[in-house]
Amino acid sequence: MPAPTLRSLLCLAALPLLLSACGEPADTHPDKPVTQRRAAFNTILKAFEPMGMMLRDKRYDADAFLQSAEKLEAAKEGPWRHFTADSNYPPTKATDKVWSESAKFEEERQAFLAATSRLLEAARSKDEAKATAAYEATHNTCRSCHKTFKK
Ligand code: HEC
Repeated sequence: MPAPTLRSLLCLAALPLLLSACGEPADTHPDKPVTQRRAAFNTILKAFEPMGMMLRDKRYDADAFLQSAEKLEAAKEGPWRHFTADSNYPPTKATDKVWSESAKFEEERQAFLAATSRLLEAARSKDEAKATAAYEATHNTCRSCHKTFKK
């Protein structure tokens, strides 16, 4: 094992104090837009992930799936208003293209919003095949946006 660097030692020492990801500058902006949108994306992930796990493990539970789809529907508007004009600063993982290619970003956002609505519909049908297809379609909108707009 390589010797720990000074940086990693400092990180370990700082952990209990900071409770924030190490090696990252703190979000010092007044409204903390980066922190807020990241929290909102994590809320989306928390709603979205259980559906994927259920399908992968072949234990589709229509009621639990619907509950997650409803949580996702409630969370899906969360991040966007925090992408303000002056919010491209560390520790963001957004690429500059969010700001320089805003029409394309908006297109990706709309595709995601539409996909989550269809996912909720599919969840309400309680049909596993429909739920799976709608889950995959939604997952593709996450991936597609992240490919261009997330580091
Ligand atoms: C329209 C674009 C777009 C869509 C759609 C999108 N994301 Fe993201 N996502 C981003 C961007 C940009 C960031 C980086 C935000 C930042 O760090 O400022 C991000 C960050 C995240 C993060 C990291 C949060 C953190 O703590 O750093 C997670 C988790 C995430 N997205 C999950 C998802 C999931 C799951 C979906 C689909 C269900 C999704 N995203 C859909 C653009 C998108």
